[in-house]
Amino acid sequence: MHKKKSFLSILDIDFLSVVSYEHTKKTPFAQKLSSNPILGRKERRVVKKIAFFSQKGGVGKSTLVANTAGSLSKSGHSVLVVDLDGQGTTTSYLTTIKDNSTGTVYDLITETKAGKDLVCPVEFDKWDPKTQKRVPLETNISLLPASHEITSPEFYMSFKDKDLFKRFFKELGQEYDFCLFDCPGYANMITESALIASDYIIAPAFADTDSIKGIGDLMDTRKRIRTETDNISLEVLGVIFTCYQNTSFSRQIRDYISESWQGIVFGSTIRKAAIIPESRYLGIPMAYYKPKENVTTDFAAFTEEMIARIKNGRKN
Ligand SMILES: Nc1ncnc2c1ncn2[C@@H]1O[C@H](COP(=O)(O)OP(=O)(O)OP(=O)(O)O)[C@@H](O)[C@H]1O
Ligand SMILES: [Mg+2]
Repeated sequence: MHKKKSFLSILDIDFLSVVSYEHTKKTPFAQKLSSNPILGRKERRVVKKIAFFSQKGGVGKSTLVANTAGSLSKSGHSVLVVDLDGQGTTTSYLTTIKDNSTGTVYDLITETKAGKDLVCPVEFDKWDPKTQKRVPLETNISLLPASHEITSPEFYMSFKDKDLFKRFFKELGQEYDFCLFDCPGYANMITESALIASDYIIAPAFADTDSIKGIGDLMDTRKRIRTETDNISLEVLGVIFTCYQNTSFSRQIRDYISESWQGIVFGSTIRKAAIIPESRYLGIPMAYYKPKENVTTDFAAFTEEMIARIKNGRKN
């Protein structure tokens, strides 16, 4: 009988490298980190909360969050992803085989369950050509999934709980090395609550003229949170160019922003890669799907730089 081929096997994808990967094995980078007093020692784990935020939609936020989580997980860090966008892009990127039965952001808001009971572990479903079966692949990623219920106008009108995530982290304790918020591409009170609970903002951007205005808006947001709420230490960790193509125009935009806001631009860029939509469709971040791909190296380099900036205490 003819066996139906999976989408993955049709594409002749390098499964073995993924299936044989031991997620607990530390990379040289992770080993180096284990001597890092801020981020490396589990007994002194400090959860760093980072909002991936931009008031412009479609600039690669969700793609960056899912893949940064993948890179962090692969280098031995535990990471919690909170999907605040009712579209649920990051949730579907990270939930190949897990259902969302644990709960969603909406349940956190309505206090259906305790926050820590809403978080679900993320594992990916990989095809093993040896056994001709799909196998679960565990990760160090946990997810608080998005909910479409938070997109209704009634909900927006009624939600006013600015301290939601501050309380959430108090309850959660220091269970994770990093928490990444995927924020929607527009301001709302849930995003506000995430910014109030965050240590840093990372702003994904395209290298176009909109990004210049976007950085001004970003700095205004940081200032507003610092002056109008009790999160007086919120920092912009940096702007990262996504979907990047190394053209003369892109370089001019990067240079202009780098000169105008010293140190704000991440040295790493995430190149535009045709494999990204495929990885999103399959729901497997690049670090697990295609570890050797160029864009995977971009995500890993960005992740290293992000950690280095946190370690060096970036101020702006
Ligand atoms: N590095 C990349 N290479 C190619 N395509 C990319 C890359 N990054 C993102 N994309 C594509 O760009 C589109 C927007 O990406 P994404 O959904 O991550 O943006 P977003 O900022 O989260 O959008 P929204 O504001 O709607 O939440 C998607 O179709 C995604 O597949
Ligand atoms: Mg998104």
